[in-house]
Amino acid sequence: MDPRYPIAPFPEGWFRVAWEHELGRGGVLPRRVCGRDLVVYRGASGRVHVLDAFCPHVGAHLGHGGRVQGERIVCPFHGWEIDCSGRCVHVPLAPKVPPRARIAGYPVAEVSGAVLVYVHPDGAPPRWTPAPLEGWNDPAWTRPQVLTPWRVRTHVQEFGENGVDLGHAVFLHDHITRAAQTELVEADGPVLRHRSRHHYRVFAPLEWLGKRVEGTLETRIDGFGRVAAHARVDAGIQVENRVVFYPTPIDDEWVELAAAVFLRRHPSWLLTRLLQAKSVREAIKTIDQDAPIWSNKRYVRRPLLVAGEEAMGHYRRWARQFYPDADASAEPSA
Ligand code: FES
Ligand SMILES: [Fe+2]
Repeated sequence: MDPRYPIAPFPEGWFRVAWEHELGRGGVLPRRVCGRDLVVYRGASGRVHVLDAFCPHVGAHLGHGGRVQGERIVCPFHGWEIDCSGRCVHVPLAPKVPPRARIAGYPVAEVSGAVLVYVHPDGAPPRWTPAPLEGWNDPAWTRPQVLTPWRVRTHVQEFGENGVDLGHAVFLHDHITRAAQTELVEADGPVLRHRSRHHYRVFAPLEWLGKRVEGTLETRIDGFGRVAAHARVDAGIQVENRVVFYPTPIDDEWVELAAAVFLRRHPSWLLTRLLQAKSVREAIKTIDQDAPIWSNKRYVRRPLLVAGEEAMGHYRRWARQFYPDADASAEPSA
């Protein structure tokens, strides 16, 4: 266990393992998620399956050279065929399949362009499935632009916490936000919703013209695996964008952070392009600012929260439900 994070490294959750477009029919990907080696493949039916990667025969990695046949994956070493539940159903050299020849399978969901796998530390079934994202593949919005993922040495719980941490928004990210207040924070089972009101600095030239640029930022957090932010900014014109983040724990040290950005189209094609490019630049800049903090900070079990930071306390209490051992997470002092 990382001494900076004395909490369980792999709470339950739906975690992104691929973008839909990375995995055509018959496609096979090796992945490491929550310290487990997995094979992700799309069967002939179009459905995606996720299994433990190591063949039950003598342990070849099915994600490196495995071939899809129907809904099965065929091991590259001796040709054993594993069905999408993880059961071996055909052994080329033997008339009978050994009864213990099986590996674990995982629940999979394809939601708004992302292939998600559900991993529970005790193997329990999922309690929920993340809802589709409004505006994704909607002609009224731009095509989501996928960012180059970050690799961060931290714990997966940090990313949602960042989404409700307004104190850092006005300090670390002060090129965007001058001031911000929480308007609503609401836990609904595995989903946490947070809405804040922001006074923005990001359209500085408008401020020189005497215009105060304000807006709301709604963040919807689905477990620790998806953090979706929806900003509505009144900058003379209405600007609306969405940034969706997918933190996926790789092992007990590293988290991969994938992200995509999309924007409600403005009637002007050029303005839409400029605003989309700006949204992407700002999203990258903020994560580049957060990443060294995450990579070097430690987990404070009872953070010293001050007035205005109540949402972080809500987040910490909500976060406990994802640990099988209820006291594995934290309790804030305020
Ligand atoms: S290791 Fe997979 S078939 Fe032998
Ligand atoms: Fe941040």
